[in-house]
Amino acid sequence: MARLIAVSNRVPKPGERYTSGGLSVALRNALERRGGLWLGWSGQIQDETVSEPRVTTQRAHNVDYVTVDLTKRDEEEYYNGFANRALWPLFHHRPGLTEFARRDMAGYYRVNQTFARILAPLVQPDDVIWVHDYHLIPLASELRSLGLKNRMGFFLHIPWPAQELFSILPNHARLAINLINYDLVGFQTKPHMDNFITYLKDEMDTKVEGGELEAFGRRTQLGVFPISIDTQEFIQFARAPRSAIARRLEHSLEGKILALSVDRLDYSKGIPQRIEAIGRFLELYPEYKSRFTALQVAPTTREAIPEYAEINREVAEAAGRINGRFGDIDWAPIRYVNKSIGRSALAHLYRAAKIGVVTPLRDGMNLVAKEYIAAQDPENPGVLVLSRFAGAAKELRGALLVNPYDIDGVAHALRSACEMPLDERLSRFLPMYAHLKKFNVHRWTDDFLSALMREPQLALTA
Ligand code: F6P
Repeated sequence: MARLIAVSNRVPKPGERYTSGGLSVALRNALERRGGLWLGWSGQIQDETVSEPRVTTQRAHNVDYVTVDLTKRDEEEYYNGFANRALWPLFHHRPGLTEFARRDMAGYYRVNQTFARILAPLVQPDDVIWVHDYHLIPLASELRSLGLKNRMGFFLHIPWPAQELFSILPNHARLAINLINYDLVGFQTKPHMDNFITYLKDEMDTKVEGGELEAFGRRTQLGVFPISIDTQEFIQFARAPRSAIARRLEHSLEGKILALSVDRLDYSKGIPQRIEAIGRFLELYPEYKSRFTALQVAPTTREAIPEYAEINREVAEAAGRINGRFGDIDWAPIRYVNKSIGRSALAHLYRAAKIGVVTPLRDGMNLVAKEYIAAQDPENPGVLVLSRFAGAAKELRGALLVNPYDIDGVAHALRSACEMPLDERLSRFLPMYAHLKKFNVHRWTDDFLSALMREPQLALTA
């Protein structure tokens, strides 16, 4: 079996088994099965004066974890700059927040070159390389320019934007050509893939047939691979005896309806709009005052970036405003916490919540929506209120699908969720539950890797 090499911006710690999310668990599983290597940023910053990046290798269960320290300048230009102030907002349809600087773009390419330079000597001829997410789009080009001919796949975890938006990037053509250097490019949903195909046809006059494109003497396969969760693991977490945090929560609720949201504190998640919708719900249906509690769990993220400091302030103000307006001396409609909660405790919180509220303005997939379903009691499930702009909405058709910009619409959906009888909850829930049992993260890993290994790379004659 070919050895697998995974590359992602962040790499989990070798011993860390359950804290870093389903994707890490699944990739680690695939790496351990085949033997492999995982390369990415260590999260550490090294002194600018050191000429070579510090590389640390740790081996555990058949896998080499190779992490690279970056300089402060790398972090600013590559991670905070081009990846998170140019690509992230634009790919989430927020051109107004997009800050493009040539210096950042150069830093982005420089870090990709550094990763390629460190990885290339570690690669054996039949290794298969799987690169993850928008931080590393140019990696295959950099590896190919160092002479590597291995099969290389890329999976984009976030949306691919509409052509008009992507072409705002001054280096859009270069990035698109970077993607063509992979053998397989995977997207979360068909509309994301179609956006890329439209761009290729219109801007690069490239032919795409049967999901395969031919350009610059190469053939690249495109495909849709909706990422998922370790469904069985979540089901087991949710069935296990309740953790202390879940008992504290249930005790404090005193029988009130719980509507739960869990998001990184990111402007793409639609948290201020959601809080407004909760206010509208209480305004339209005052009978729910003192009977309803919304819990927003939102660990802070990417704090060095000004737009993230701004969303932090905005959410805190919105929650304070709604609590001030609708709350009472013994009840506040919104509980807002900035910490992250471990996955097994989270499963209990999901199960305690009659409503899961997942309303991003745009999202590649959104695994919280899937985790919420997996954690429900199959005999008495809750209701998922889900943004139609999350990739998960393409699969979780039993959710109450909402437009997160439509505050009244979300308020009405919250009411429907509160009132929904058991038979309707079951008929919505059961097909989603069955779907997630079948299409779990292991299936996702296997599907992507078998597609990557299926087609031999065909060099076209010029
Ligand atoms: O889903 C997009 C993504 O950037 C992932 O690549 C990453 O693991 C996650 O969001 C968290 O982002 P960050 O590593 O910037 O905190």
